[in-house]
Amino acid sequence: MCGIFGIISQQPKNLIKKTLEGLKILEYRGYDSAGIAYNHNKKLNIIKSVGDINELSNKINTQPQIKACIGHTRWATNGAVTTTNSHPHTSFNDEIAVVHNGIIENYQECCDYLNQNNIKLKTPVDTEIIPNILYILRHNKHNIHNFLKGQYVFCSIKLNENKLFLAKKGNLPLYIGKDNNTYYISSDTLALPLTVTHVITLENLDTCEIIGQKLTFYNNTSPITREWKPFNQTFIASDKQGYSTYMEKEINEIPQIATRIMSEYQNTKNIVHIKQKFRNLLKNVKCIHLCGCGTSYHAALLLAKIYEKELKIRTIAHISSELTPTTLLNEPSLAIVISQSGETADTLACMDIIQHHHIPIIALCNVLTSTIAKRSQITFPLLCGPEIAVASTKVFYAAVLVGCLLVQDYDPNIYNKTIQMTQQTLQHARHILPLPPEKPKKIFIIGKGLAYVLALESALKIKEVTYLHCEGYPANELKHGPLSMVDNTTLAIAFGDDTANAVTEIQARGGKVINIPINFENPLAFISQIIPAQIFALDLALSLGLNPDKPRNLAKSVTVL
Ligand code: F6R
Repeated sequence: MCGIFGIISQQPKNLIKKTLEGLKILEYRGYDSAGIAYNHNKKLNIIKSVGDINELSNKINTQPQIKACIGHTRWATNGAVTTTNSHPHTSFNDEIAVVHNGIIENYQECCDYLNQNNIKLKTPVDTEIIPNILYILRHNKHNIHNFLKGQYVFCSIKLNENKLFLAKKGNLPLYIGKDNNTYYISSDTLALPLTVTHVITLENLDTCEIIGQKLTFYNNTSPITREWKPFNQTFIASDKQGYSTYMEKEINEIPQIATRIMSEYQNTKNIVHIKQKFRNLLKNVKCIHLCGCGTSYHAALLLAKIYEKELKIRTIAHISSELTPTTLLNEPSLAIVISQSGETADTLACMDIIQHHHIPIIALCNVLTSTIAKRSQITFPLLCGPEIAVASTKVFYAAVLVGCLLVQDYDPNIYNKTIQMTQQTLQHARHILPLPPEKPKKIFIIGKGLAYVLALESALKIKEVTYLHCEGYPANELKHGPLSMVDNTTLAIAFGDDTANAVTEIQARGGKVINIPINFENPLAFISQIIPAQIFALDLALSLGLNPDKPRNLAKSVTVL
């Protein structure tokens, strides 16, 4: 969460504009406030604003010729959302400015240390200690990791010096990209311009100073070299392909993703090879642990039900942050972690526990350069391309589909029918689940078995983008408590015919019900039955005047515990 973008260039043209463009792409990481810092007219200029990058851009009316600029888009963790609390934060004497992602865990200890040095902080934000400690360290700044505890990445710039200094501790991503005469610093390779040809990924405990064309790396205070890796940017962020939101574009990509996944998981040599390797691992396993957060947890829940039935192996789905060492028994086990971003801190922490038990970890992940992908023995790609909307849609579909294809090869007929049915469900989604004439006060979504998990995921999607209270519930459980909440302001969405009893109970209390028939005959096509609820959430958010791509309080890549 939080996006860092920086540029240092021999060509001092449009650097602020380019920084803002980079930040705009990183906005999915947090968008409650933003800011930039650069040297001009012998001054370290800081411009900050509450709101998204457009708000910041509105405050910038000059494009001076500068050689370096750093920028930040924030998702507040400590300190309210105010202009003062947004990044960059500066040292007490305004000499050093820092943009930062992560949490400084020994904040209080650092504050005490700064106090002893007569340095008073201006904000409650942990970031502010970094420029001040850098000031104290001066020529020993590569020593910074010995002072700061926690997981963080940051980038700093100093008054009258067109150098950038970067540091990373822990798992958070930070990349340096280069083209002819410019270096770009970014929290995500997605934000690197099309001209970038090579990339360096910062490693745990790295620091790096960039002066002109020269990069000097240290790891844990020892000099080190880092290799440039070839890079080819294929992502064009501004391209919503005619859709008004990324969420709509991404839902509409699902049939094409289904086709791609089915083809590649049958035909691509490397994927077929790792699929076989996975199946071999399964042969000796007594228990499978599936882990994920939010939507990825729902994908895990669906796959757990499918695996138990298909493989006859005990399979447990865990919310990543709820897995404890005692959950893992001393028996031959396999763990499968599911993550769109590959950077989710709760899932990474859960991987620490699993690794400690020497259980092999397989990842289903959409970002192959991510930390989760790198830390897993085998990573199965979800082949969705970048997912920008905060609410995960196409990747949920892909994770469940890939999960199914790992354990079984299907008749070609089933593949064709799945693609056909996915296309049809998308086409008729608004007919299957129409918007109600009036805004409901509360929504219940009910189902049984696999449909119950679809209900959970539908409810998450709706509450995420509409801010309405919405709950997914097992159909028969409604009468054991939540039925007390049902009245004539309730909308219920019932997945499948086997919810009939609950439906009549809701109707008897004045609730309105929309039935969605669910077809589980085709073992793969059922996944697409999440699409009407995804589109319902999107349309309801738009009808309420909300931006479904950027729900309040949320960010796409949750890199804090
Ligand atoms: C919901 C959503 C979140 C994520 C969760 C895990 O639409 O996007 O619930 O699914 O934060 O993120 P990943 O999959 O990146 O680990």
